Amino acid sequence: MILENSTLTAERDLLADKITFLSRFDYLGKKGVLALEKSLSEFQSTYDRLTLDQFMNDGGTYRLRRFGRFRLWQNSLQIEKLENKPFFQSKEKNPLNGGTPRFFDEMEPSALHNPILHQIIRKQFELLPNLEKLARPRSWLVYVHQIRIVGKPGVPGNPSPEGKHQDGHYYVGQVLIQRKNVDGATSLAFDLDGNLIFEGTLKNQLESILINDRETYHNVTPIQSEDQLNDAVRDMLLIDFNPEYFYA
Ligand SMILES: [Fe+2]
Repeated sequence: MILENSTLTAERDLLADKITFLSRFDYLGKKGVLALEKSLSEFQSTYDRLTLDQFMNDGGTYRLRRFGRFRLWQNSLQIEKLENKPFFQSKEKNPLNGGTPRFFDEMEPSALHNPILHQIIRKQFELLPNLEKLARPRSWLVYVHQIRIVGKPGVPGNPSPEGKHQDGHYYVGQVLIQRKNVDGATSLAFDLDGNLIFEGTLKNQLESILINDRETYHNVTPIQSEDQLNDAVRDMLLIDFNPEYFYA
């Protein structure tokens, strides 16, 4: 799947295609929902208060973030906020920064409880394939990362400093919240044999890719300042989905 722009029709089989594309319409409908539009601008404004990621083993200071943990009940689609805890990825999945618990500041309350966030989580969850085959989970752990990457003139920012990788989750949603003065940030996905299966650049707000993480690798190219005068800013919302409790 090569994504030139947002006109591409979403493909909806995450098992077969391993990745799917969503646009603003998928979350807000064709006409938009005024209340959700307002929630979205409130949600976006919280990115201006993200805090420095202190666990960057490349020494980079180009990544700001906050973190939130939720439980999603499969049948009711109820979303429950969980207490903030360190985020862990194995060294195998994240050779640069994995292998140690990373404590990130929690998302602000207005972001944690924001209706557009919950809408995005539920919409992406709806698209996860064949839930019944996953041993009928009762609930899912949903980890939410708000991440800002900054590129300064002459100093690129790197959305994926670990290179081509898996995140170590069942499914991962990547949602563009803001892209300002950015050159670069092309998203790439590969099958487990290393064949390129997706290449595209998220350009418009809420454009998203939803990835079957166990069946793919992904990467994002660095960001540069487009006008070479001002900072490049790319704000992303990343959502990790993993089954939690199972029916006996
Ligand atoms: Fe990743």
